[in-house]
Amino acid sequence: MTQRAYVIDQMISAKAIAARVEALARDITTHFKGTDKLVVVGLLRGSFVFIADLVRELDLPVEVDFLEASSYGDGMQSSREVRILKDLRGEIAGRDVLVVEDIVDTGFTLHHVKKLLEAREPARLEICALLDKPSRREVPMTATWTGFAIPDEFVVGYGIDFAQRNRNLPFIGKVRFTDDGAA
Ligand code: IMP
Ligand code: MG
Repeated sequence: MTQRAYVIDQMISAKAIAARVEALARDITTHFKGTDKLVVVGLLRGSFVFIADLVRELDLPVEVDFLEASSYGDGMQSSREVRILKDLRGEIAGRDVLVVEDIVDTGFTLHHVKKLLEAREPARLEICALLDKPSRREVPMTATWTGFAIPDEFVVGYGIDFAQRNRNLPFIGKVRFTDDGAA
């Protein structure tokens, strides 16, 4: 794909994200209160900023592990095929698991990951997604906790990329192309 020209319009400010992360962490802390075996599983790479902020707001003993599943290439379309590129380091049988994802879009990624992890028989498995695009869903998937429901826009920032760029933006913005799309 040829690089197209685009600008990024802010959609959710860093301040709004921080407030929402704090509220999510309060709910998650209440839900898992008393656990001594919570494993927070970040889906690489898009969740790395979110999980870093979220775990620091959790008032629970946590372990952190990562899983890398790939459904997107470098483009903007889901391939609908989910591959596990990097598996967890630890065992989750009998443990409480919180999967942390950046965006639920078609739902294929989380659907697949959930099935994979449930087969390992965790005590509990919940999902926290920062963003949700409900209008794009192709397979049923509802996260236990969602940060923000957003319209069908391609977004970047706060860990989320477009062709591996813009993950380091502190806010979430939408990509707006400034060329005619013919590139
Ligand atoms: P799903 O399998 O279609 O639900 O795709 C979820 C994954 O697609 C997310 O974890 C993101 O990595 C990626 N994705 C979906 N929407 C966007 C977007 O607007 N910007 C960047 N990545 C996205
Ligand atoms: Mg992802």
